[in-house]
Amino acid sequence: MKITVLNGSPKGDLSVTMQYVKFIEKKYPQHNLKKINIASAIKKIEKNGEVFNEIIEEVKTSDGVIWAFPLYYLLVQSGYKRFIELINIRGAENAFKGKYATALSTSIHFFDHTAHNYIHAISDDLDMRYINGFSPEMHDLLKSEGQEGLLVFAENFFSAITNKLKTPKRFLEIKNSSFKYKSGKVTNKIDSNSKRVVVISDGGKEDKNLNAMVDRFRGSFTTPPELVNLNDIDIKGGCLGCCRCGYDNTCVYEGKDGYIDFYRDKVMGADILVFAGVVVDRYLSSDWKRFFDRSFFMGHTPTMKNKQVGFVISGPLSQVPNITEIFNGFMECESANIAGFITDECEDSNDIDAHLDSLAEHLVRFAKADYVSPATFLGVGGRKIFRDDIWGKLRFPFVADHKYYKKHGYFDFPHKKDWAGRIKSKVLVLLTKIPQIRKEIYINKIKDEMVKPFMKVVEKADGPASSK
Ligand SMILES: Cc1cc2nc3c(=O)[nH]c(=O)nc-3n(C[C@H](O)[C@H](O)[C@H](O)COP(=O)(O)O)c2cc1C
Repeated sequence: MKITVLNGSPKGDLSVTMQYVKFIEKKYPQHNLKKINIASAIKKIEKNGEVFNEIIEEVKTSDGVIWAFPLYYLLVQSGYKRFIELINIRGAENAFKGKYATALSTSIHFFDHTAHNYIHAISDDLDMRYINGFSPEMHDLLKSEGQEGLLVFAENFFSAITNKLKTPKRFLEIKNSSFKYKSGKVTNKIDSNSKRVVVISDGGKEDKNLNAMVDRFRGSFTTPPELVNLNDIDIKGGCLGCCRCGYDNTCVYEGKDGYIDFYRDKVMGADILVFAGVVVDRYLSSDWKRFFDRSFFMGHTPTMKNKQVGFVISGPLSQVPNITEIFNGFMECESANIAGFITDECEDSNDIDAHLDSLAEHLVRFAKADYVSPATFLGVGGRKIFRDDIWGKLRFPFVADHKYYKKHGYFDFPHKKDWAGRIKSKVLVLLTKIPQIRKEIYINKIKDEMVKPFMKVVEKADGPASSK
């Protein structure tokens, strides 16, 4: 059978992901795997209609499609996302309809599930027949279990095609709205309290709701915050995944375009950041994706630490919970605080005005208090992946990250800290070996003892809090 492999790595053939594909190719010579570089050739694909059409023709004449990609910022790389946008913009959906599809990614397992949700949903949107994807840690192919798993995955995909298996859709079709937002007057303007507020939008002329929401939001401050449009920044291209930045955060684009200066000044220099965009397919635009990908010149260091972040989104955000999961996880790992997501989905202009006012109020209140809400599983888990990998197998090439993590106490392995807690646990475990003591602890003591330290804090707390 013929399988088209759409390569999402900006490194083209020199991609880790493609080694997985080549391994499959070698093990199944009876199948023709047509590999096409998408992310590395996106400029050409976008500019030259013929090149795009040739790819679509390959898809049309194949029995299945493998979306093969590296994880980039909890999704796919911006060029790959642009290709998916072009399928819709250029009306090429029919070539994908009814084809079997699967996803094969490599990553460090940092939000690989959100990238797979995305590709699965895109496949559903294209009326493809999605078969179980495969998401190994990037080094898994080096081990025999990794190789065996890969072959089971491939075999399963080929066999689904041969046997014409029926596949359910997992993601509901998105319903778009034609609601037109009309902003009202601001009655109570808010003082930013000398906090630097920067709004970044990718709104084009046609994004009327988004632009009006951004204007209304800015108008709710006594001094309107700075506004930067992503389209006005000279960005020469997407992240190339070259990792040249790994040693000292020097990007291959340094001095060649305006992104790095913009990011250092407007993003890293802000106290409050508001990201404004339109839902495009199952994420924001590929321009936004490029913005996030390019921030990789700072590696895995948190460039938005302790900042307040708000999202102003036009479009069906609540129909794509994967997007909020991505940004919640991302910001939690950054140790930034999300003050809210505001959309135009309620289809009531007065309510949207009120929601934008509340966002402004929340952002300033939290900024004044230097508040960052505790991370959930997304942030706690994500940071542990970074901590372990930067300490271990990613120490090289990410030398700058390692320096930062060491300096800022990020290597907080449990065996290094909390000696008192560890000794206490050891003693208690020893005591539980004695049946009488064990009984006393688990039946009479455990609830009281667990709550005791908290009760002490509550007891000691003095009078009512002063409101800020
Ligand atoms: C800009 C950039 C962003 C990345 N983002 C993620 C991520 O969000 N999650 C993850 O697990 N790995 C992430 N990675 C790691 C790559 O996905 C991983 O190294 C992959 O194996 C590279 O595959 P390739 O050689 O095929 O491009 C990122 C790497 C780069 C360069």
